[in-house]
Amino acid sequence: MTRLSLPTEGRPRAEVLAELDAMGRGDADWRGAHTWSLVYHAGEEHTRLLREAYGRFFSENGLNPMAFKSLKRLETEVVQMGAGLLHGGPGTVGLLTSGGTESILLAMKTYRDRARRRLRLPGRAVVIAPESVHVAFDKAAEYFDLRLRRAPLRADMRVDVKAVRRMLSARTILVVGSAPCYPYGVVDGIEELSGLCQARGLPLHVDACVGGFLLPFVERLGRPIPAWDFRVPGVSSISADVHKYGYAAKGASLLLYRDMELMKHQFFATTDWCGGVFASPGLLGTRPGGAYAAAWAALQSLGERGYLELHGRALDATRRLLEGIAAIPELEVLGAPDATIFAYRARDPQVNIYAVGDRMTARGWHIDRQQHPACLHAMVTQAHAGVVDAYLADLRTAVAEVKGRPELATQGEAAMYGLVAHVPLRGMVKKNVLRMLEAMYGPEGTPPDLGAEAGRPGDRLTQLALKALPRLEKVSGLLRRLRRR
Ligand SMILES: Cc1ncc(COP(=O)(O)O)c(C=O)c1O
Repeated sequence: MTRLSLPTEGRPRAEVLAELDAMGRGDADWRGAHTWSLVYHAGEEHTRLLREAYGRFFSENGLNPMAFKSLKRLETEVVQMGAGLLHGGPGTVGLLTSGGTESILLAMKTYRDRARRRLRLPGRAVVIAPESVHVAFDKAAEYFDLRLRRAPLRADMRVDVKAVRRMLSARTILVVGSAPCYPYGVVDGIEELSGLCQARGLPLHVDACVGGFLLPFVERLGRPIPAWDFRVPGVSSISADVHKYGYAAKGASLLLYRDMELMKHQFFATTDWCGGVFASPGLLGTRPGGAYAAAWAALQSLGERGYLELHGRALDATRRLLEGIAAIPELEVLGAPDATIFAYRARDPQVNIYAVGDRMTARGWHIDRQQHPACLHAMVTQAHAGVVDAYLADLRTAVAEVKGRPELATQGEAAMYGLVAHVPLRGMVKKNVLRMLEAMYGPEGTPPDLGAEAGRPGDRLTQLALKALPRLEKVSGLLRRLRRR
């Protein structure tokens, strides 16, 4: 493969743009609402506004709020609107970050440093979070040398608060809950977690990256949502992404703290660098002004009424999807989703849900596969209102095609997901996943073909594992149960 080099002479702009368009042509079809995560689209007019707002502050850099006071004002006002929505008090503070992961990384760093300044901990500090909490917490634990202990879920997919209580120890520095969690779309028992934390003087972070700009409106639309925001006294901080259900441009998340006593542990300053005294509130150096302007513009232009309309449409689409799935006897939804995110699995042992996923992929749907238990995922937005019937029709066909054909579990992407979920040697699975990243970021930078990976004919170990898949499923289930004890 020849490697692209910088052209000696710049190419015509139209040609450059045409090539970009061509590159995007093979991507997942978000414009046709065929993606069930990743993209939040509120229509062409709204997107035009976001682009214009972004463009207005395209060059400005939030690194220096003294130079760009406009950006500090935009950030402060987005924080204030978010804090108002989530029932913050007069002392609520926060910042805009580049996304949910940055907000979570920062929250974890803040509580680590807070604990370091207050306590002399015996060994590594521990954070307790539900099994369903977003992986960004694992990443943060790895980056910041914390230990993340995952608490089991109850049958309704919410965290088992009794188990959290049993896991608390002198080394616990933080408890986390989700509102809602990404995998199943359910809100954890934040009030119960708050009670636990308050009794022990522990902080409680609520990850509302998906729910922050969704649940307040769902509640206003009359759906009872268990209390989870700053109205709950033990909640210390909340992550809430404007670039998800806030329908902003990518690169905007809020991290809010109940007060500055907490947030101050997040800040970084150094006084002796030859480049001058340097202070920074978050992870990044350069901060994109455009993303802040677009977040501000989304909130101001949609307003309460706009969000109620958009989320009302998404809720209605979700209701129709859930009813449609309930009418397919081979499938079942996990738990009772609180808003617009859910997962479903096969209740009929003759149906392999990953094979159903493959059939849906073949029809152009981009659906996330989940594990423990094996299930398919959907994050419903207003854009899906027009595709519910087509999705359900394809799903019914996919289930009928897959039923009674166990061999499909060992082919295509289904084989890959089955292996990844059930090979008991988790270290080996991790090594392979990391190898895939090395290939993706190697000199040729090729994205992996998951189906082909599983079916590589020369790989004898893979072939053997595929043959033993049903037995592996049993062993891995048993091991997971044992590990939890
Ligand atoms: C609950 C939850 N938290 C955190 C994140 C991470 O957000 P981001 O992808 O913006 O880093 C996600 C992403 O989907 C999420 O669903």
